[in-house]
Amino acid sequence: MGKAQRERWQANVKSMEIVSKPRDQITDDDIRFLRENYTSIGGLLPKGFNGGAFFTPTHVAKFMWDVLKPRLTQAPKVLEPSVGSGVFLEHAPSDAEITALELDQTSAKVTSLIYLQANVIQGNAILHNRENYYDVVIGNPPYGETVEIDMSDGDFSDWKTLTKRKDKYRGKSEAVFIEHAIRSAKPGGYIAFILPKGIAFNSQTQKARELLFNTCWQVATIMLPGETFQHVGTTIPTQILIVRKVTPNARKIKAVTKRWGSNFRRSDWSDIDGFGAEFFEGQTPAYFAKVTDIGWDEKGRSTDKWGDGLTQLDELVDDWTDGNLTRENLYPHLPSWHGIEKGNESFFFSHGNESCDGFRDASRTYPDGPYRWQELTLGTGEEVEWRRADGTVELRSTWDFDWQDEIVADYYSQKGAI
Ligand SMILES: C[S@@+](CC[C@H](N)C(=O)[O-])C[C@H]1O[C@@H](n2cnc3c(N)ncnc32)[C@H](O)[C@@H]1O
Repeated sequence: MGKAQRERWQANVKSMEIVSKPRDQITDDDIRFLRENYTSIGGLLPKGFNGGAFFTPTHVAKFMWDVLKPRLTQAPKVLEPSVGSGVFLEHAPSDAEITALELDQTSAKVTSLIYLQANVIQGNAILHNRENYYDVVIGNPPYGETVEIDMSDGDFSDWKTLTKRKDKYRGKSEAVFIEHAIRSAKPGGYIAFILPKGIAFNSQTQKARELLFNTCWQVATIMLPGETFQHVGTTIPTQILIVRKVTPNARKIKAVTKRWGSNFRRSDWSDIDGFGAEFFEGQTPAYFAKVTDIGWDEKGRSTDKWGDGLTQLDELVDDWTDGNLTRENLYPHLPSWHGIEKGNESFFFSHGNESCDGFRDASRTYPDGPYRWQELTLGTGEEVEWRRADGTVELRSTWDFDWQDEIVADYYSQKGAI
């Protein structure tokens, strides 16, 4: 064990001593110590004993909130399903109603001591079944673990990512957490998760990809470099996925632009009808980015050249506030058919292979990173017919960022009218 790891270990031992004290003996200094030092066991114990406990750097959690906040209404209902020591609560809106779930007893106790405004519940997140309720589900779920649920804890037979064997339901943690998030978010609510890159292609997560494609609008996929989790001893490449749960009134429609051409095969313009490509009404151009510098290198040394504390994530936030994620300098690419043989659902992620047109063009245009591009999904601005809740039919552009909000508003006005 190296010096940094030894220090982490000692800080965690001290943290466990603090949380085991009676509440009236825990001082403000103790709570400050927990806030600054508790990191749980990720990267400190041999694989298989870490519970997927790799905590997120604070500026990454802040970035995810920075891009979501302008889209939220007041006093949003927030779920952090695997809260760890609460980095996602640190940056949540101050008026949010927060529910935080955590399996590990020490982490749950640490978070409940630091974040008094949150309702912290210790236990298996998947058993928390408040469905169609939250405006935001946000976090970094455990990866590569097996979630197990006793049959006596409830009927999970309609879950797509759990399999029933003997007296238990079992599933791959990142897939089960995605399904749990989709169930927990209300229609029109957002899900923002950090996920392993492998979610894009692993056969064990196919069901989760299908679920996303069949229940959510894709908003953004932002790849993070391996160094992101350097501080907790792992170099696993990850990505931020931001999606929005569709309202039941949104129908899947065929992509309107029919001609597709790849930069690699310049002569080969093909008719994309053959791919059977469909997206939900209101699916806006999807934002993709790859961060090449997270603020430190693989040894944890700062890469902040200007000493201003800003990282590439701050540059990306500008994309979200300027022109609604469609900047003229972002390369528009016709829908991401690059992995279409794997199924339409791969469009949420397929750029993980780093060989699509958008990625290549973006990486040439911004050689220092971050690379940013977008996929046009439904089309290149053609108009399509949209049937509103009151039966009237209107035209909407396939590049209209207000359309999605209108679909959500239509759904709630219709519900209110019943
Ligand atoms: C990758 S860490 C992330 C923690 C925190 N969200 C963050 O980003 O810093 C995953 C967390 O999930 C917790 N966890 C693992 N399985 C869980 C389960 N079934 N229910 C709730 N929490 C769980 C682990 O203890 C760990 O704290």
